[in-house]
Formats: sequence, C-alpha cells, structure tokens
Amino acid sequence: MMHFVLVLFLALGLAKAEDGSHAWLRYAPVPNPNGYRSLPSTIVALNSSKSSPVYTAGQELQKGIKGIFGKSLSINDTGKGPSSVVVGTAEAYKKNYGEFDEADALDEDGFFLSIEERRVRIIGQNQRAALYGAFEYLSRLAQANFSLVSYVSNPHAPIRWVNEWDNLDGSIERGYAGPSIFFRDGYVMENVTRAAEYARLLASIRVNGIVINNVNANAALLNERNIAGLGRLADAFRPYGVQLGISLNFASPQDFGGLPTFDPLDPTVDVWWANVTNKIYSRVSDFAGFLVKANSEGQPGPLTYNRTLADGANMFARALKPHGGIVMFRAFVYDHHLTPSNWKNDRANAAVEFFKDLDGKFDDNVVVQIKYGPIDFQVREPPSPLFSALRKTNTAIELQVTQEYLGHQDHLVYLAPMWKEILEFDLRVDNRPSKVKDIISSARFNRPLGGSAAVVNVGTNTTWLGSHLAMSNLYAYGILAWNPAAQAEDIIRDWIRLTFGFNRQVLDTVTEMSMKSWPAYENYSGNLGVQTLTDILYTHYGPNPASQDNNGWGQWTRADSVSIGMDRTVKNGTGNAGQYPPEIAMMFENIETTPDNLLLWFHHVPYTQRLKSGKTVIQHFYDAHYEGAATAQTFVTMWESLKGKIDEQRYDEVLFEQVYQAGHALVWRDSINQFYYNMSGIPDQAKRVGNHPYRIEAERMSLNGYEAYAVNPFHTASGYTAIVTTSNGTVGTATANITYASGTYDLAINYYDLIGGKSKYEVLINNRTVGAWTGDLEDRLGHAPSIYLDGHSAARITFKGVKVNKGDTLKIVGFPNGIEPAPIDYVSLLPPGTID
Ligand SMILES: *[C@@H]1O[C@H](CO)[C@@H](O)[C@H](O)[C@H]1NC(C)=O
Ligand SMILES: *[C@@H]1O[C@H](CO)[C@@H](O)[C@H](O)[C@H]1NC(C)=O
Ligand SMILES: *[C@@H]1O[C@H](CO)[C@@H](O)[C@H](O)[C@H]1NC(C)=O
Ligand SMILES: *[C@@H]1O[C@H](CO)[C@@H](O)[C@H](O)[C@H]1NC(C)=O
Ligand SMILES: *[C@@H]1O[C@H](CO)[C@@H](O)[C@H](O)[C@H]1NC(C)=O
Ligand SMILES: *[C@@H]1O[C@H](CO)[C@@H](O)[C@H](O)[C@H]1NC(C)=O
Ligand SMILES: *[C@@H]1O[C@H](CO)[C@@H](O)[C@H](O)[C@H]1NC(C)=O
Ligand SMILES: *[C@@H]1O[C@H](CO)[C@@H](O)[C@H](O)[C@H]1NC(C)=O
Ligand SMILES: *[C@@H]1O[C@H](CO)[C@@H](O)[C@H](O)[C@H]1NC(C)=O
Ligand SMILES: *[C@@H]1O[C@H](CO)[C@@H](O)[C@H](O)[C@H]1NC(C)=O
Ligand SMILES: *[C@@H]1O[C@H](CO)[C@@H](O)[C@H](O)[C@H]1NC(C)=O
Ligand SMILES: *[C@@H]1O[C@H](CO)[C@@H](O)[C@H](O)[C@H]1NC(C)=O
Repeated sequence: MMHFVLVLFLALGLAKAEDGSHAWLRYAPVPNPNGYRSLPSTIVALNSSKSSPVYTAGQELQKGIKGIFGKSLSINDTGKGPSSVVVGTAEAYKKNYGEFDEADALDEDGFFLSIEERRVRIIGQNQRAALYGAFEYLSRLAQANFSLVSYVSNPHAPIRWVNEWDNLDGSIERGYAGPSIFFRDGYVMENVTRAAEYARLLASIRVNGIVINNVNANAALLNERNIAGLGRLADAFRPYGVQLGISLNFASPQDFGGLPTFDPLDPTVDVWWANVTNKIYSRVSDFAGFLVKANSEGQPGPLTYNRTLADGANMFARALKPHGGIVMFRAFVYDHHLTPSNWKNDRANAAVEFFKDLDGKFDDNVVVQIKYGPIDFQVREPPSPLFSALRKTNTAIELQVTQEYLGHQDHLVYLAPMWKEILEFDLRVDNRPSKVKDIISSARFNRPLGGSAAVVNVGTNTTWLGSHLAMSNLYAYGILAWNPAAQAEDIIRDWIRLTFGFNRQVLDTVTEMSMKSWPAYENYSGNLGVQTLTDILYTHYGPNPASQDNNGWGQWTRADSVSIGMDRTVKNGTGNAGQYPPEIAMMFENIETTPDNLLLWFHHVPYTQRLKSGKTVIQHFYDAHYEGAATAQTFVTMWESLKGKIDEQRYDEVLFEQVYQAGHALVWRDSINQFYYNMSGIPDQAKRVGNHPYRIEAERMSLNGYEAYAVNPFHTASGYTAIVTTSNGTVGTATANITYASGTYDLAINYYDLIGGKSKYEVLINNRTVGAWTGDLEDRLGHAPSIYLDGHSAARITFKGVKVNKGDTLKIVGFPNGIEPAPIDYVSLLPPGTID
C-alpha cells in the first residue's frame, strides 16, 4: 500500500509543473525510500539563534527529509535522542557530546559527515561549514545514495565568491534573466526574500561571498539609504553563512565625497575611505570586502595619479584591515585604444605588464582577481600567464557563469569541462608542477588567501538564469571552487539527479547533451583558438568576425585574404608566448608543439596551414562549423526523447530553447563559413559552403509590399540579402512557385526577430495556411536583443511534415509591427532528415 501511494505520488509529481525556482534543491521524493533503513527520528541543531547557519541547517534538514521521505522530524537544540541527525560546530558538539576526534582534521569552512545506521553527525569547523555538511547529507539523500560513510571535506581555497554585475537602477550588465534581485530605482530593494533564497542556493554549493553590484560601480551605493540596504541584505545572507561584498568606484572620494582628489596616496583620501569602510562595518559586522576594477575600460584608478595599481589596492586594504576584510583587485587592466596596425601590440600582454613588477608589493589582504584567460571569457583561451608571474601575491581565478560570449544562456554550453582545462593546466613554474588550481590555493606558492570568483547574472526570472539547463553551470562553479579535482561529468550527473530525478534515460541524455555542448559551441562559433567570433562591439551574442579587428579593443584575429591568427611568438610576434614559464613558452612558441585548439591564438598562419589532424585551417573551419551545428540539431531530438520523463513545464521550456539554439547554430555556421569563404576564396572541399539546394531566397520571390534589403553584416543573410516590408504599415507578401518534387517536407523559415516590434507571419501553400508565428523572441528568450537585421536577431522556425506538390504556390504574408518590418531571409524546403 505504502509503495502504491508513493508510486502514485511520484507519477503526480512528474506531471506537476515545475518552474525551476527550486533549482537543485527540490527535495523531490526518492523512488526507493525503503532503501534507507536508518532514517533518523529527530534532528538536533546545536544552535537555536535564527541568524545562525546551524539553525538554518536544522530547518533545511527538516524540510529536506520531509520532501524526500515525506517524514516530519522535530528539531531539538540539545537532545541526545537514540536516533538523531546532529548538526553543529565542532565546539558546540564537544560541549554537548564530549569527544570529537576529527576536530584537528577540519580546515576553515571544512566539515565532517558521518552517516551510521543509528546516527548521523554533521560537524563543521564553523557554523557555515555545518550548513555545508547538512546540504551535502541532503544531496546524498535526494540522489538516493544511502551508503554509510564517514569523511572530512575541506575547501580547496578560502575564497569562493560570486560577482553580480547589477546596477543600482535594477538593470544587470550582461544580464539575461530579468532585472536585479538586489536593486531597483537607485536603491537596495526593500524586499530581500529572493536575495535570501539566492544565498540559500549559494550556501548549498559552498559559496561564501556575494559581491552584489557591477564592477563598473556607481558610488551612490555608499549613500546612507543604500548602506542601510546593505545591512538588510547582509542580514538576509547571514543565516546561510554568505558574506556580503561590494564593488567600488575608485573616484568615489571625489565624485561622491566631494574631495578635490582621489589620489590613493593623499592622506585625506585614506581617511575618507577608512570612514566609509567603518560606516559599512558598523552596519554589516561580517562584511566580506571590496571588489575593484580600476584603470580598465575607462574606469578611474591609481594610474590617473601616476600611482601604481598596488598603491591603489593597498589603499582599500588599509581601510579593511582592522575589520578583517579583503580587497579583490581585478587584473583586467588594459589599454582599449591599442593601435591595430602595430604587429607587436597585444592586449593579452597587458595583465603581466601591469602586475608583474608589483609582485610582493600588495598588502596581505589584497587578492588579485585574474580572468581565466588573457583576453575576456572567450570560448577557448590558454590560462592567463599572470597566474605564473605572481608568486608573492594572493590570487584568485575569475570565471563566468554568465554566458557573455557563450550564447547568453540561450545556447546550452556546460562550462565545467572548459574550467577544468584551465584549472588542470600545468604552468610548470620553475619547471615544477604548477597547476592553475594549485596556484589559486595555498598549495603552490604558500599564500594565505586565494580561490575563485564567478560572474553570475541571476535575475528575477523564476529559473534564476533564464534557462533551466544553464543552472548546471552555477552548480558546477560551486563544486569546483570547493574541489577543483571533481570531474565535470560527475558534477553534471549529480546535478541532473537533483534537478530532474532518477530516470536513467534522462540522466544519460542530459549528460551527453551537456558534455557535447561546449565542443559544439566552439565548433560553430570560433575554432582553433581564434576566439568567439561574435560581435564584440554590440551584444557579444551572434556572429560578426569583422568586428574583432581594426579597432582598439585588441580582440584581433588578424584575418586577411591569405592568413589568420595572432602572432604571439617571441621570434616574430607580440612576445606573449614568452610571458609563460620556459617549458610552456617553448611549447607555444613553436607551431609544431602548439595544440591545434590554440593554434590561431599563438600563430599567424595561412588558411592552407596543415593541422595535426591533416586538415587545412580553412577546411577545419568549414567542417567544424557543419559538425557543431549538426550536433546542436541532435540536442533537440535527444531532448524530445525525454517527453513524459520530465515534468511538462520544464520539458516545454527547454525544448523551446533547444529548437531555437538549433536554428541559431545554423545562422552561426553559415555566417562564419560565408565570411571566411568570401575572405579567402578557398572553396569547401565538401561543396557545402554557399551551396544550398533546398533554399528559396526571399529576395528572389515575387514581392508585394516587401522589398529586398542588404543585411549588414552581409554574411548574416543567406545570399547577403533579406526582405522587409516597404513601410511599417504595409502588409507584405512574398510568393514563389515550388519547383521541388511533390512530397512531404520540413518547411524552415529564417527570419529576423528584432526588439521593438512583434511582427506576425503566415505561410501558405496554395492559399492553405500551413504555419503562422509571431516575432516575439525578445519576450521568450533572455539573450541581448538587437534592433537590426543581423546575426543576433536571425532566427529560424520550422513547420514539420508539410505536403507540397510541384507547381504549388508558396506564400508568406508578413505583418510588420513597431520597428520590426516582418523581415525574412529564406525558406528551406527540407526532405525529412536534411539540415540546411
Ligand atoms: C549561535 O549562533 C549565533 C549566531 O550566529 C552565535 O552568535 C552564537 O555564538 C552561537 N552559539 C553557539 C553556542 O555556537
Ligand atoms: C529535546 O530533547 C530533550 C531530551 O531528549 C527532551 O526532553 C525535550 O523534550 C526535547 N525538546 C523538544 C522541543 O523536542
Ligand atoms: C554514493 O556516494 C559515494 C561517494 O560518497 C559513491 O562512492 C557511491 O558510489 C555512491 N553510491 C551510489 C549508489 O550512488
Ligand atoms: C517579497 O518577495 C517575495 C518573492 O520574492 C514575495 O513572495 C513576497 O510576497 C514579497 N513580500 C512583500 C512584503 O512584498
Ligand atoms: C566621516 O563620516 C561622518 C558621517 O558618517 C561624517 O560626519 C564625517 O565628516 C566623516 N569624516 C571624514 C573625515 O570624512
Ligand atoms: C604622470 O607622469 C607623466 C610623465 O611620466 C606626466 O606627464 C604627468 O603629468 C604625470 N601626471 C600626474 C597627474 O602627475
Ligand atoms: C612576421 O611578422 C610580420 C609582421 O611584422 C608578418 O607580416 C609576417 O607574416 C611574420 N612572419 C612569419 C613567418 O610569421
Ligand atoms: C567538432 O568539430 C570537430 C572537427 O570537425 C569534430 O571532430 C567534432 O566531432 C565536433 N564535435 C562536436 C561536439 O560537434
Ligand atoms: C509561377 O508560375 C506561373 C506560371 O507557371 C507564373 O505565371 C508565375 O509568375 C509564377 N510565379 C512566381 C512567383 O514565380
Ligand atoms: C489564392 O487566392 C487568391 C485570391 O485570394 C487567388 O487569386 C489565387 O488564385 C489563389 N491561389 C491558389 C493557388 O489557389
Ligand atoms: C524567464 O526567462 C525565460 C527565458 O528568457 C522566459 O521565457 C520567461 O518568460 C521568463 N519568465 C519570467 C517570469 O521572467
Ligand atoms: C511604425 O513605427 C513607428 C516608430 O518607428 C511607430 O510609432 C508606429 O506606431 C509604427 N506603426 C505601426 C503600424 O506599427
């Protein structure tokens, strides 16, 4: 009977809509609760203060066990009941129970978890550590892992932060999931419920700090009302053991404080910062510290006064020191007015050039926060050479959960495999093992502080990141920050069980999709280390390789009609390879020893250069773009195979995104291939590029109320041309005779979906409507929208199984709306199974 009820409950649970708000903390019922014989009968949480993470742990255990087993346990703060789960700090445990042998094995934030038949002990080195242990225990239960275990888990490094890029007006820089959960209209929000829920999610993955505002910081965060708001947020985070930090604007003493200067060596400036810092601590006693972006991309900084970056960082360090706070000082300092005509110029050199000579000059509570690669969150970069150059300075790695250059959370890109490549990269400092993961902890250079920070763009969207599947990246970030030795595939499997349940096919399918997703995205965006070939001057979303070159930003590809790639060699290029320790420098200096996937990062080569695979560079581009885009199509069919095995709401929402991604992957494929074919004049050996036998170009159709439109960039339209209505009040029709053999086809239509209008479309065969849609992706997808016909707005819709006869009339009717002129690129009549 019990079993029957449970099965029924599970079946209902599956049908029930899930909106993603519980992320991986769903505490869904496990299928075999009887597998766990020794479920404790009571919870003992050794602290009853509501702001205590140990108290939170008790509440969380109660909630989790109720969800997973349907069993209500009472919570006691002293009891020694016969069968209990005890959670508390080592100190409290000893006070209540006497001995605790493992105490010495616990590092700061570390916990001990012991699951025995009759009792469970979760003991933290400190309060938040006890909460981490409780989440670990619940994660095991929620995954139906009922094995009896006993182990200590310590963090790899003390700093495990997230950086939010939220602005005070409520917008989020690179935000794709709705407005801020922290700010609105210039102030910290009154309602901090959702901020607390976010802290809970973060605590469950052992993140211990949140910097809540954009690194391009607004000094108004320091006004009275906002400092009171910081107090409110910190109070909301505290029960989860998460500390609050903020980003500062370097010029605040002048712009906000009214001083005549913000020179870091001016004593009045020092006093001003100390005063502000004291004020923050008087409201937020456990304030974590400051994050500073200085002298970067137009931001003010110490260089304004000819002071060093260390002078700038140490100024904040002095203000924080008495309170135990730390400064995260970003190494993302570079000149964005570089002259491209100088072959030796290289933005990738900037971080080492700025920071190398300052090694040892930073105070001990400064941590230099280094982006994983030398440029900017590209689809593939080598690790930043700065990791090897700073030996006497605390460092942290900066990762990005936000998919700024990686599909804006509308493309599935599971990032753990990419992060792992960086973390496991051995920089061979002094010819000794020097993995990046050991440099950012104390392991290699024996420095007290260090760790990781990830940029995360959670918003008000119920899914947090605007996409259910993107949440695996936030989860994986926390797991790897705690333990970089964890395997990307193990992490995703845990995440899937927690997020979608136990169906074996769901587990295997979502694992396969996730593990293929970064290679697929790299294949159809930018290969061989050439960077993500996106529009760097606008949204950082769709394809636009030309935008990389001939400007001061330094994200160059140096592509011309015969060759491509940045020459970063010492012998003839920018010398960047020489910034790495000798063994690595030698590897990157030589084409023969440079891995193919970084070839164009370090070398300028003809398109006909042979790779280790035997292919030429250009043919690899073509093949990879076809293969990557083809992989993206398979994500749709893989996901469709899970229908009925995942609740309907999340099934539908993910399906919508995968279908969109599949279409946009084709936009990427054709655009990049067209661009390099046009530039190099070298045809695709497989004769695919520029050859689309199933397409009817819209501009070749017979138009009424529509006119041809030359799209810019040209390669983001098939045949370089689309059609738009002649005015925004004119209904357009485009007609063509079908010359293909009679049969059943998938009818795909590529169009452009701009922000600023919701055009409607109808497609008819012999006046019979076979499809209709509205250009409203700006409401349904999170990526940065475009007001142009370009690679960001280009999209595809497909109507499957449409019967047509040779000689039939195909007609598309477009109803423009707002600034969106019902734009259409082409129609593809695809025999089933064909992709083009
Ligand atoms: C209980 O938690 C509160 C709040 O964190 C803390 O101040 C107090 O010291 C804790 N008590 C014990 C016995 O650990
Ligand atoms: C806590 O445990 C003690 C001893 O086992 C018991 O006397 C007491 O009633 C319990 N309190 C609650 C609130 O369950
Ligand atoms: C449970 O987790 C442990 C790791 O703590 C693992 O070794 C074991 O294989 C897992 N068991 C199951 C059934 O998943
Ligand atoms: C605060 O926000 C939460 C959701 O984030 C909502 O459920 C709650 O009603 C809000 N509280 C108030 C007082 O508006
Ligand atoms: C410090 O801040 C207080 C207000 O909190 C202000 O009255 C005082 O003038 C400030 N002192 C300096 C030196 O800026
Ligand atoms: C900084 O130094 C340069 C030359 O090294 C000088 O031209 C400039 O005036 C100095 N700026 C300030 C603010 O001292
Ligand atoms: C060396 O650099 C020059 C530019 O200074 C470039 O034109 C040339 O192609 C490079 N030679 C080689 C062999 O890479
Ligand atoms: C990426 O492209 C390479 C080269 O064409 C191919 O070997 C690989 O299978 C592709 N991977 C995916 C996931 O598309
Ligand atoms: C379709 O074919 C008919 C006759 O074969 C011709 O009159 C008409 O112009 C064609 N329409 C289009 C849109 O090409
Ligand atoms: C479609 O309808 C129009 C009038 O609305 C008519 O002139 C035309 O012949 C019809 N075409 C077909 C193929 O039925
Ligand atoms: C959440 O984001 C998705 C994708 O951008 C969108 O379809 C949905 O409408 C959003 N929902 C909310 C409540 O913001
Ligand atoms: C045409 O566009 C303008 C703004 O460019 C807008 O004010 C007007 O409402 C639009 N007309 C229609 C019919 O959408």
